[in-house]
Amino acid sequence: MSTELIVVGAGGFGRQTLDVVQALNRAADVPVFDVLGVVDTNPSDLNRERLEHRGVAYLGTVAEWLAFDYHALYLIGIGDPVARQRLDRSFLAAGMAAATAVHPAASIGSQAAIGDGTVVCGGTQVSTNVRLGRHVHLNPNVAIGHDAVLHDFVSVNPGAIVSGDVEVGERVLIGAGAVILQGLVVGSDAVVGANACVVRHVFGDTVVKGVPAR
Ligand SMILES: CC(C)(COP(=O)(O)OP(=O)(O)OC[C@H]1O[C@@H](n2cnc3c(N)ncnc32)[C@H](O)[C@@H]1OP(=O)(O)O)[C@@H](O)C(=O)NCCC(=O)NCCS
Repeated sequence: MSTELIVVGAGGFGRQTLDVVQALNRAADVPVFDVLGVVDTNPSDLNRERLEHRGVAYLGTVAEWLAFDYHALYLIGIGDPVARQRLDRSFLAAGMAAATAVHPAASIGSQAAIGDGTVVCGGTQVSTNVRLGRHVHLNPNVAIGHDAVLHDFVSVNPGAIVSGDVEVGERVLIGAGAVILQGLVVGSDAVVGANACVVRHVFGDTVVKGVPAR
């Protein structure tokens, strides 16, 4: 039997999350998830049209959904780590539970630990003994090296490389194509710019960019 699921967010990563879920369903004998639709507090007209075009229902705002008091699993398809954490608190407080979705075309190594709410897109490769916290987003074609730890609400944008033994703090955003060299620590709430090469530890709550990243 399929499990009922809502996706939060009609924007880019929300609809990418729908793609991951649909790919999972297609790959299984019995669909894993029954997608009820998308919840979004402020969807643009264009994103409403995009949902309609793909035949996915718009279920209303977060407040409307929570007032409805219907318990499906949820995935938060919103790229901003801070917004994702805030929404997660609301859904948890309402007694709901997060799903986890790994695209069938992603590869997950041995001894992985993957937290609730995490979404892994196609083409991404996760090496051995990696820990992914709650609501981590791994966009397409990301590589996560052996023994890396990504804490809750980390977002890794397309094509980024997190090398072995790296630790990434809560709510860090790693830009597209960035590389974090092995063994480094990226502090909570830091942002790593697109295409940066991180060669030293990154303090929390800072923005680094460029090659080498500063
Ligand atoms: C690094 C980043 C966080 C900076 O954002 P910001 O603080 O709003 O920066 P601004 O756009 O105001 O740019 C500030 C300066 O940094 C430069 N800059 C911005 N992003 C840069 C990057 N990734 N690498 C090198 N320089 C960058 C700008 O050219 C500008 O330089 P200037 O002052 O000489 O004109 C952002 O540009 C970034 O790379 N985010 C990741 C986005 C991403 O991954 N997108 C793909 C989504 S799928």
